[in-house]
Amino acid sequence: MCGIVGYIGNRPAMPFLLEGLRRLEYRGYDSAGVARLTSAGLAVTKAAGKVAELAALLPAETQETLGIAHTRWATHGAPSEVNAHPHLDCGGKIAVVHNGIIENFQHLKRRLEDEGHRFRSETDTEVLAHLIEKHYRENLGEAVRLALQDVRGAYAVAVVVADQPNLIVAARRGSPLVMGVGLHEHFVASDIGAILPFTKDIVYLNDGELVRISREGFRAMTLDNIWVEKPVEHLAHEADKYEKGQWPHYMLKEMHEQPEVVRRAAMGRVLADDAMVRFGGLNLTMSELRAKRRVVIIGCGSASYAGMVGKYLFEEFAGIPTDVVAASEFRYKRIHVEDDALVLVVSQSGETADTLAALRELKRKGLKVYGISNVLASSIARETDGGIFINAGPEIGVASTKAFLGQLTVLTLLAFLMGRLREMSVADGRDVLRQLGQLPTIIDDILARRAELAPAVALLKDAPSAFYLGRKMTYPIALEGALKLKEIAYIHAEAYPAGEMKHGPIALLTGTFPCVVLAPKDSVREKTLSNVQEIRARSAKIIAIGTQGDAELAALSDVFFPIPEIHEMLLPLVTLIPMQMLAYETAVAKGYDVDKPRNLAKSVTVE
Ligand code: G6P
Repeated sequence: MCGIVGYIGNRPAMPFLLEGLRRLEYRGYDSAGVARLTSAGLAVTKAAGKVAELAALLPAETQETLGIAHTRWATHGAPSEVNAHPHLDCGGKIAVVHNGIIENFQHLKRRLEDEGHRFRSETDTEVLAHLIEKHYRENLGEAVRLALQDVRGAYAVAVVVADQPNLIVAARRGSPLVMGVGLHEHFVASDIGAILPFTKDIVYLNDGELVRISREGFRAMTLDNIWVEKPVEHLAHEADKYEKGQWPHYMLKEMHEQPEVVRRAAMGRVLADDAMVRFGGLNLTMSELRAKRRVVIIGCGSASYAGMVGKYLFEEFAGIPTDVVAASEFRYKRIHVEDDALVLVVSQSGETADTLAALRELKRKGLKVYGISNVLASSIARETDGGIFINAGPEIGVASTKAFLGQLTVLTLLAFLMGRLREMSVADGRDVLRQLGQLPTIIDDILARRAELAPAVALLKDAPSAFYLGRKMTYPIALEGALKLKEIAYIHAEAYPAGEMKHGPIALLTGTFPCVVLAPKDSVREKTLSNVQEIRARSAKIIAIGTQGDAELAALSDVFFPIPEIHEMLLPLVTLIPMQMLAYETAVAKGYDVDKPRNLAKSVTVE
């Protein structure tokens, strides 16, 4: 949801600004802009579209050594050149880039217009430029600090002013912002991934902090005007995680990291001999966990589908009733959460606005809330009472793959633990954990068979619509599979519990309609097979994911993709992989930009 970068130093700023923006494009890519400080004042260049369109408009070589830049995911106002950042004050002297949302911008805009300020764009951000202009008396840091006192909402900002060629002011509240320290040069960015190729010395700004940055150094303070010391951390080993390497797409790279994701999510948590699981960060004792009578899971998008897998697991293997609610619904409805419920918020980024708002409302009501997140320093990780870290490493591909699998893995482990604390025997527990140990190899083997999906891709590629069907554990995986196909291959796909298909959707089945059916050997395979028969009777196309050696299913299907037999509890983790591969291969076959699908953003920090 928008990425910002800034550079001040003794070499040309533009190579970092453009490379930094490219590395932040996963945060938004519908328009981009840059402001550089020339001897004649600020030079601003903006473009609708991706960073490449912006780069094409810039002179081949620019010498300026100070600049700020932005890649946008539109919220207020269309993704046009005029709405692209940086935004300027009336005099064109102050330039601002912003990630976040100014909630009271309309009120502030009216007030500023009454005072004579002239606005050019429809964005919320532009009010910041004018507010800073209003407070500016040759002290940019103080003007930014005062302007931010008037602002409600979330922001990470970087600001420059034409008459101070050795200064960037940056600040954050609610949106991420980091700084890089080099020799006589400094970098700011929304994410360390943009900075690490340039320096490994990083300063993390906390919420509510502002920093004045020059070529020689920086000084940080709170927005309440108290100086703070900021340690510089040396991140020698982080850089590789952000590189695409030899992979054609981040998404493919991240799919192939999934065997490692399972290992890391389980590492140090599984006690094989006792068939138990321990979560250090959850801050709940075994007896506290045992006393939970209900589970409530809240999240958005894929995270809410992970929650649905959790629901089946908690109910089936731990005997605990579980509710899953989309955070955007949860935050505005009457809330019935008993004191003995385990409340979990699931969020890869830990910054999703709806999930964060639901968490805050639960906390206001005096409930304890636990998080499942992939970003340790994120707002959700910080504000929860305890949590489980996924440990999947940075996910750059916009459509979530490895982070989703990480969410599934920790939810499986948690459901396993809750089951073991109740009725599951140590022998059954050992069996599940033994099979969990085999998962990395199983996932690796499935990933190596991508080419086998070519006939399935041929059936899907030109279809306007598709169905994804699953039952019990595999129904949420069908939802995730359909979501992936919509997100990156732009094919309308709907997921149903397989038994629901006959209650309406079946009317759509004709000779070419593709149905992706998850029918591995589990407690409901026979039932799903009856649904496959119903599809076949309408001559629609069947792409089946089933257990190796299932000749009956293979004979009924147009394409049969076998997976190894595995404990029902672990089926979601295995059936997910062909769903991701199918969406990926279809999107590639259609020639789409897999890592940056249209209209999407990696973390949605606005409502
Ligand atoms: C966005 C992303 C989805 C993600 C959802 C929730 O919509 O495009 O991939 O599932 O946000 O994100 P979170 O970071 O909270 O898991």
